[in-house]
Amino acid sequence: MTQIERLRSLGLFDARVPRYTSYPTAPAFSPNVGAREQACALAKLNPDEPVSVYLHIPFCERLCWFCACRTQGTASLTPVEAYIGTLERELELLAGILPKGLRMGRMHWGGGTPTILPPDLIHRLANAVKAVIAPAEGWEFSVEIDPTMVDRAKIAALAAEGMNRASIGIQDFDPKVQDAIGRIQPFYVTLNCVEDLRDAGVHSLNADLVYGLPYQDMARLDDTVSKVLDLDPDRIALFGYAHVPWVSKRQQLIRDETLPKEVERFKLAEHAARRFGDAGLRAIGIDHFAKPADTLAIAAETGHLRRNFQGYTDDTCPTLIGIGASSISKLPTGYIQNAAATPAYTRSIGDGHLAGARGHLMTAGDRLRARAIEMIMCDFRLDLGALRRDHGEIAETLQPDVAMVLRIFGNLVAATPDGFEIRPEGRALTRIIASRFDAHVPNGARYSQAS
Ligand SMILES: C[S@@+](CC[C@H](N)C(=O)[O-])C[C@H]1O[C@@H](n2cnc3c(N)ncnc32)[C@H](O)[C@@H]1O
Ligand code: SF4
Repeated sequence: MTQIERLRSLGLFDARVPRYTSYPTAPAFSPNVGAREQACALAKLNPDEPVSVYLHIPFCERLCWFCACRTQGTASLTPVEAYIGTLERELELLAGILPKGLRMGRMHWGGGTPTILPPDLIHRLANAVKAVIAPAEGWEFSVEIDPTMVDRAKIAALAAEGMNRASIGIQDFDPKVQDAIGRIQPFYVTLNCVEDLRDAGVHSLNADLVYGLPYQDMARLDDTVSKVLDLDPDRIALFGYAHVPWVSKRQQLIRDETLPKEVERFKLAEHAARRFGDAGLRAIGIDHFAKPADTLAIAAETGHLRRNFQGYTDDTCPTLIGIGASSISKLPTGYIQNAAATPAYTRSIGDGHLAGARGHLMTAGDRLRARAIEMIMCDFRLDLGALRRDHGEIAETLQPDVAMVLRIFGNLVAATPDGFEIRPEGRALTRIIASRFDAHVPNGARYSQAS
C-alpha cells in the first residue's frame, strides 16, 4: 500500500473532524450557558494575572467567496461606526464587572476586516479597550490586515496604538485563483502593505495562505510560495481550504469541479511545506511555519506552543476575553460565545447585559481532554505523565483511547513510555487522531475534511 492509500484507509480524505481551536469545539456549546455565567466568571478573574483580549470586527467591503469567517459585506461605514458604539457599550458593561486593575498581555483584532476602520475609529476603539483593561508591560497587539483595505494612515493609527504584530491576508497570488475566489489582490498591493507596516515599525509579520483553492495547481502554488518568501514574513499560516457551503453560503459561488482533487490537494500542502522548510522555516503544528528565532518556533521547541481561536500561539495566558459579535471568551470556568449575529449581539448590549449566548462549563474530564487534544495538535504526542502531573489520576481515563490510537494507527504512531508520538508519515492524520479524544462530538455537526 502506498503512503497515500494507507492515509486514505485511515480516513484522511473522508473524515470530517474539527480543527480543534478549542475543546469542546463551538458546535458543542450549549444555549444554557450564557450571559449570567459570563458575568460571574469575569467578576472572579484574578486582577494580578494579565488576560488576552480578542475583538471581532464582522465587516468587509468585499466578500471573498472562499471565506468561512463570520462577517458581512458593507459598502458604507455607517453600520461599522454603529458597531464601534456597541463595542464601547460592551466595554462599559465589562468595566462594571471586571476586577479593578486587570491588565491585558495581548490584544488581537480579527474579523472580518479590522482594517475597514478609518483612523478615528481605530483610536476610538483602542482607547475604549485601554480605558477598561490597561496594557501590561511588554504587551502584544496584533491585527489582521487586508492589504487591499489598508493605507498608511490606518497603519500609522494602529502603530500609534501599539500594534506590534500584523497578520496579512494573502491566500494565493495567482490571478486565476484570485478570480475564482472573488478576491483580486495584485502582488504589488501586498508588497506595499508589507513595506508600510515595516516602515511603521511593525516587524513581526504573519502571512495567511490557503491551499486547496479552485484552479490551484503545483505551478501556481509554487509561484505563490516564491512570492510569499520574497516578502520574508516571520510566520506563515498555510490553511487547508475548508469548503463548507452549507455553513458559508457565499462558497456556493465556488464550483466543486474547480477544486483540486483530494490527492492533489494533499500534494499541494506537502509541496508548500517542503519549500518553506527549504527556506529555513520551521514547521509548527499542522499548518504553521516560522523563522527559527520567532517566538512561535521557540515555543514549539520548548513545549510552550498552544492552540487558540487564531490557530497556533505562544500565548500561554489562561484567560481570553472575547468582545464583539460571535467572539468566544475562554474563562476559568469554561467557554462563552457572544451572540453570533450582529443584530442579536447589538440587542443584548443595548438592553444593558452581556451578550454571552452559548457556552460550555468545563468539568475536570473536559480539562484533561482539552489539554490532551492540544498536546496532540501542538506537539504530535500525548504524554500521560505530564497529564497525570497536572490533572491527577483522572489522566488514567485516557488509557483506553491511547490503546485504541496505537491499535488503529499502527506504525504511523509510535508508543512512548507514557503515551504515543505521531510519526512524521502520520502527521496528516493529526486532527483525526485528536478527535479520538473528543467526548463531545455533537450530533449532526459537519466539519471540513481532515486533510
Ligand atoms: C478574518 S480572515 C482575514 C483577514 C482579512 N479580512 C483579509 O482578508 O485579509 C482570516 C483568515 O482565515 C482564512 N480563511 C478564511 N476562510 C477560510 C476557509 N474557508 N478555509 C481556510 N481558511 C480560511 C484566510 O487565510 C484568512 O486570511
Ligand atoms: S477573507 Fe477577509 S476580506 Fe475576504 S471575506 Fe473573509 S474576512 Fe472578509
